[in-house]
Amino acid sequence: MFTKKPPLGWNSWNTFGNDISEELLMQTADAMIEKGLKDAGYEYVVIDDCWSLLERDENGDIVTDPQKFPHGMKYLADYIHSKGLKFGMYSCAGVKTCAGYPSSYHNEFRDAKLFASIGIDFLKYDFCNVPAGSNGPLLYHTMSMALKESGRDILFSACNWGADHVETWIRSCGAGMYRSTGDINDNFASVRDIALSQVDKLAYSGIGCYNDIDMLIVGMYNRGNVRNGGCTDVDYKTHFSVWCMFGSPLMIGCDIRNVNDVSLDLLKNKDLLRINQDEECRTAFVCGDNGNKGLAFFRHLSDNEYALMFVNFADEEAEITLDPDKIGLWNGCGYGLSVRDVFSGDKFVIAGEHKEKLAGHDSKVFLCRTTAI
Ligand code: GLA
Repeated sequence: MFTKKPPLGWNSWNTFGNDISEELLMQTADAMIEKGLKDAGYEYVVIDDCWSLLERDENGDIVTDPQKFPHGMKYLADYIHSKGLKFGMYSCAGVKTCAGYPSSYHNEFRDAKLFASIGIDFLKYDFCNVPAGSNGPLLYHTMSMALKESGRDILFSACNWGADHVETWIRSCGAGMYRSTGDINDNFASVRDIALSQVDKLAYSGIGCYNDIDMLIVGMYNRGNVRNGGCTDVDYKTHFSVWCMFGSPLMIGCDIRNVNDVSLDLLKNKDLLRINQDEECRTAFVCGDNGNKGLAFFRHLSDNEYALMFVNFADEEAEITLDPDKIGLWNGCGYGLSVRDVFSGDKFVIAGEHKEKLAGHDSKVFLCRTTAI
């Protein structure tokens, strides 16, 4: 499926891992509507690993686990579609998924037909247990072509964690999004490491094929499958702001049935989602740094707007400086930026060098326009 904006949705893995069920998925679809997430733009409900039995059936097909999904997968797909949402599932390019379930290596066309018969709209395709000597990129080409052959329009979400310089070939294989990093953990170091590892790869991401820097941990608070210390609300704010600024797909990873108001407001922040979903899908670039402590990013948006972000990746307070020269507003050009802080609503004009002093892990995001100074 070709998609003109980074996909938005929810995925079961970060919180639930193996602990998935029809009931959980149906309640999550309901919660996406009740909590206003669908109205905010989130549309995919995706089951990750661990949905099947451990063996294929006598025909060679993967079998849905009847204990977890007693009415079968099509029933769940129909339910999710009846809510106006889209349904995603998971497989893997190797002989077993990462959690050890049957996976699609040399069964690509068969499995794609099964997925199409269920009625999926999205397939996440992982990279565990690939036989030695396989050509990784070609395994993604094969499944992409199998999905196209399946008779259903399915978004292909590649997940090879950045292996084989994925950013250089993934667009050519027909994927709609691609994981470019190892797995996120619920702590700020993980957010920082992922963000910094992607800064020089952002230009590869664009309309139709988006760099997916992994599912969100917003609202997890050290509960669930990828818990590893947890985050504060400031950490989650910076995490979500970076993911929006970088134009990543946004796949919520917390239990949205029980999400708190702070996290829900963040996930629905209109200005951040406007930046993430900007129709021009342009690349954020560095426009100020403070050693390894903090960075400033700038991004051109549609409608002659711009986004400007300051992030302090360090644990202690740091000052990050925007040098207007680095965004093309040379000293004396007569123009600066009229900015609005997307969290506080504060408005002011930046006319020359601008410093932001930020507490450890904190960030600020501004929507801007040029203005005569
Ligand atoms: C890999 C992926 C994760 C998740 C697990 C499931 O680690 O990167 O996102 O899908 O497999 O086992």
